[in-house]
Amino acid sequence: MYDFKPAAPLPAAELYRELLGAAEALTAGEPDGIANMANVAALLWEFLPDLNWAGFYRTAPTKDGAGSELVLGPFVGRPACIRIPFGVGVCGAAAESRAAQLVEDVHAFPGHIACDAASASELVVPVLRDGAVIAVIDLDSPTPARFTEADREGVTALAALLAPRI
Ligand code: SME
Repeated sequence: MYDFKPAAPLPAAELYRELLGAAEALTAGEPDGIANMANVAALLWEFLPDLNWAGFYRTAPTKDGAGSELVLGPFVGRPACIRIPFGVGVCGAAAESRAAQLVEDVHAFPGHIACDAASASELVVPVLRDGAVIAVIDLDSPTPARFTEADREGVTALAALLAPRI
């Protein structure tokens, strides 16, 4: 049994050090990407306070097979929209630009996709393998401006750890 939940509230740097250590331990030697994303979604949920959604969208073929788009992956939270074209919403912006999107007020973000009306702020970090976006990590919070540069750095480090493992 794993009990990776931090014992007490931690400063961001320490929180992410522990989170990365737990993600490393849970995914090391496991080649199944879905299992690894599922466990890391659960870890994000356990470690990071004040979230209402934490999980993955993967780059996958469109239904007609003619291109690719983001498709819902393992997550914790309410059921979410399944397919997001590159360039649409916060997740699509992260995928298209290959850059993290830290959004303090999602209602002010052009094209934001409201999966859960409770979401107020959002952090989306692309997972890059050989320069291509293979997935994004999406975190939503009901609190405006919940995410900071420390979160962006921590989740970016997590994405680098996961790139060869999902
Ligand atoms: N709000 C996201 C969509 C995904 S959900 O938040 C889970 C967006 O605009 O990309």
